[in-house]
Amino acid sequence: MELAINPLTPGFAAEATGVDLQSGAGDNLTAAIRQAWLDAGGLLVVRDQNLTTERHIEFSKHFGPLFGDPATEPLQETVSIYIHPDHPEIYRVSNQVEADGKPKGRKGAGTYWHSDVSFRERPAGASILVAKQLPDVGGDTIFCDQTQAYAALSDAMKEMLVPLSAVHDFEVAARTQYAQPIVVEDDMSGANMAVHPIVRTHAETGRKSLFVNPGFTSHIEGFDDDESAAILGFLYEHCTRPQFLYRHRWQDHDMVIWDNRSLMHFAVMDYPDDLPRYMERTTIIGDRPT
Ligand code: OGA
Ligand code: MN
Repeated sequence: MELAINPLTPGFAAEATGVDLQSGAGDNLTAAIRQAWLDAGGLLVVRDQNLTTERHIEFSKHFGPLFGDPATEPLQETVSIYIHPDHPEIYRVSNQVEADGKPKGRKGAGTYWHSDVSFRERPAGASILVAKQLPDVGGDTIFCDQTQAYAALSDAMKEMLVPLSAVHDFEVAARTQYAQPIVVEDDMSGANMAVHPIVRTHAETGRKSLFVNPGFTSHIEGFDDDESAAILGFLYEHCTRPQFLYRHRWQDHDMVIWDNRSLMHFAVMDYPDDLPRYMERTTIIGDRPT
């Protein structure tokens, strides 16, 4: 077996085959995957990774410190019910309920455009999601490239946006994006609001991206509410044009690594409850956006 990389879009997504990260990825292979992910432009699908949860966590640590890792992050005051009971580094997404009535993971997670935990001072860098159980059809995830979207703006628009900052607040999703009241149990006490530049520069690639998302961005600082809403509305429509999108149709044991610094994503919940879907995610603590 040999690592092979093939593009999935001309712009930002690629597929890696020929690797088995379970039976031990040496440092060279891990570094090659990480580089392929950056080279691809922020999204790498690694096929056929039937990883144990332990191995998933170990692999993820090569991308940076993990949310939930007691060694790198002080324990949250409120521990989310969606976190894996034995592995605090794992966030679970699922439409299933355990025998004891507890959810097996967050149902309807990310069913709106967002960048993971952008409401933290240090939002997510990479997220690494492994498909454990999939419906036969449906449950795709759509990604959008905010680097190409930024590049496609006029110079006049770029100049207006560069000095601006926006407020990101977990409340936005809680208020507007979720149908289920269960969202309150996912509150991340005290650490759910942050101000970030609207245009950020990727620390590793040097490329500029838009960094606002309908899930968590509440408003642009310094503008009236209606002005802010109009500018953000334009940016969201612009970013989600088809040429900036990749729609991932999950296969069993796919591992998808995406870069929250330059991408938004949207989970499509078009599958019924009796078709189980269960995913495990590690989330890297990124830099403070600049
Ligand atoms: C996530 C998320 C997408 C999905 O795990 O961050 O948004 O399709 N999930 O489950
Ligand atoms: Mn997400």
